[in-house]
Amino acid sequence: MELIFLGYPGSGKGTQAGLLSERYNIPKISTGDILRAAVIAKTDLGVKAKEFMDRGELVADDIIIGLVVQRIAEPDSVRGFILDGFPRTIHQAQELDRVFLDLKRRLLAVISLEIEKKKVIGRLTSRRVCAKCGKLYNLQTEPPPVDNKCDNCGGKVYQRSDDEPETVLHRMEVYEQQTQPLKDYYGMQGKLLQVDGSLNVEKVQSEILKRLRMLVEPRI
Ligand code: AP5
Repeated sequence: MELIFLGYPGSGKGTQAGLLSERYNIPKISTGDILRAAVIAKTDLGVKAKEFMDRGELVADDIIIGLVVQRIAEPDSVRGFILDGFPRTIHQAQELDRVFLDLKRRLLAVISLEIEKKKVIGRLTSRRVCAKCGKLYNLQTEPPPVDNKCDNCGGKVYQRSDDEPETVLHRMEVYEQQTQPLKDYYGMQGKLLQVDGSLNVEKVQSEILKRLRMLVEPRI
């Protein structure tokens, strides 16, 4: 099963992709997580990516496409994978189509989480993340432990540098200009599933599962 998540920053892509990944036992491939791990490890990639990420700009297509191609080739992706944060430009989507063709893989669906911009700003500024395992917290709905040590792995829980209000607003603009056109791109391919992302996590998940079941078990 090959899936893509689209949606505004903070629409819940990482949260929902993580739940599907556990349910179907296929990896969630998050380009944002890969880049943040590289930034923390101060690798060449991390040093290059950091300035773009801190400004809320996209990292260059060729860097990102290379990362994804490499990750999809890993053995745990054989049964399928969930892309969170990729593709983000038409060029990335066209390259991904080529990769699917070469690997004889078939994209099942593109899940677009629909939510009003003003609703995601609060989610993002109160988001906290574990630096080690990526577990997501939220000061309003799921606060981290008081000592800021992740209750999943003991890693340090921190606030992403691009979750400052000004950067959040810029990321929204970048999404509208560069990523939103992908809804038409995948709509034309008949792959787009639009799901209300403003509901609580469980309701969004159950709607996604319902829509996916209709695709894989259409007559049941
Ligand atoms: P990336 O990490 O992909 O960030 P993003 O797309 O901006 O998305 P977010 O991770 O901010 O939000 P999300 O939709 O996953 O929401 P989440 O589930 O966390 O990218 C970061 C940067 O990396 C980019 O700006 C760019 O520089 C670079 N980059 C990455 N990919 C790239 C690419 N392909 N090309 C070029 N550059 C790239 O939820 C948010 C919060 O809300 C959490 O606290 C969560 O607990 C909470 N929450 C989730 N769902 C709900 C709900 N239903 N109700 C209430 N709260 C909820």
